[in-house]
Amino acid sequence: MPEKGRIIAVTGKGGTGKTLVSTLFIRFLSEQDTPLAIDADPASSLPAALGVEVRQTIGDLREEVARPSAIPFDESMPTDLMLERRIGDLLVNTPDFSLLVMGRSEGPGCYCLINDILRHAIDRFSRRFSKVVIDCEAGLEHLSRRTMRDVDTLIVISDPTMRGIKTAGVIREIAEKLEISFGKIYLILNKADQGEKAFFEERIREIGVELIGVVPEDPNVKAFDRVGKPLIDLPDDSPAVLAVGEIMERLGLI
Ligand SMILES: Nc1ncnc2c1ncn2[C@@H]1O[C@H](COP(=O)(O)OP(=O)(O)O)[C@@H](O)[C@H]1O
Ligand SMILES: [Mg+2]
Repeated sequence: MPEKGRIIAVTGKGGTGKTLVSTLFIRFLSEQDTPLAIDADPASSLPAALGVEVRQTIGDLREEVARPSAIPFDESMPTDLMLERRIGDLLVNTPDFSLLVMGRSEGPGCYCLINDILRHAIDRFSRRFSKVVIDCEAGLEHLSRRTMRDVDTLIVISDPTMRGIKTAGVIREIAEKLEISFGKIYLILNKADQGEKAFFEERIREIGVELIGVVPEDPNVKAFDRVGKPLIDLPDDSPAVLAVGEIMERLGLI
């Protein structure tokens, strides 16, 4: 049985704050252990938020494997083991966390078999980590294609708009249709104040998602993003850091 809350996926429509929240989850989790961060958004802004550079992605590896002639297959090693080792090579390791970037989605051609093999390899590989945080795109593509294993905790980020909340409802429906086994689904209202919380609370309940907390508009986030400073280095007393810390306590993650 997977450890409770071991795999956490963060999703929501573009610009709602998925990368900020994923980054702060990694920051708090790294105080206890070395979590695995997975950037599953093709827009890929997690590396910059974590302050690291990534040279190769799963997408690059997939392209390489799609041309079997280009890869020196070691006949003595099973393909899945070989891929697990290659995924290990893609990993960016820091003392605080490890990062894997999914990268571009596939080009034309059939990748079903490759994705299937990759999925198993990522699955096995991620078991080495006590916590995995996935910064997803809104469409849940990696989840729907089962590039990712089942998720224990799905966090949907929304801004305080009716459109954002409706998207959260659609994401819940997609998750149910895909029959992804979610332990639990929660909503974080980002860039919102207490008045907006009160206004949206009932509407969030109506879409069948539990509101786990509110993250306020944080001037430090804007200031850091303006000059491209990694968000993982936000001050301890920054409003977003404090709010995400409280949410993680509520989730029993710290
Ligand atoms: N709580 C917040 N306070 C201030 N700015 C925020 C906050 N959350 C996100 N932002 C800003 O909103 C934009 C989108 O955030 P980001 O985390 O990149 O969203 P996503 O990953 O969902 O596209 C960024 O410019 C970021 O600086
Ligand atoms: Mg993002």
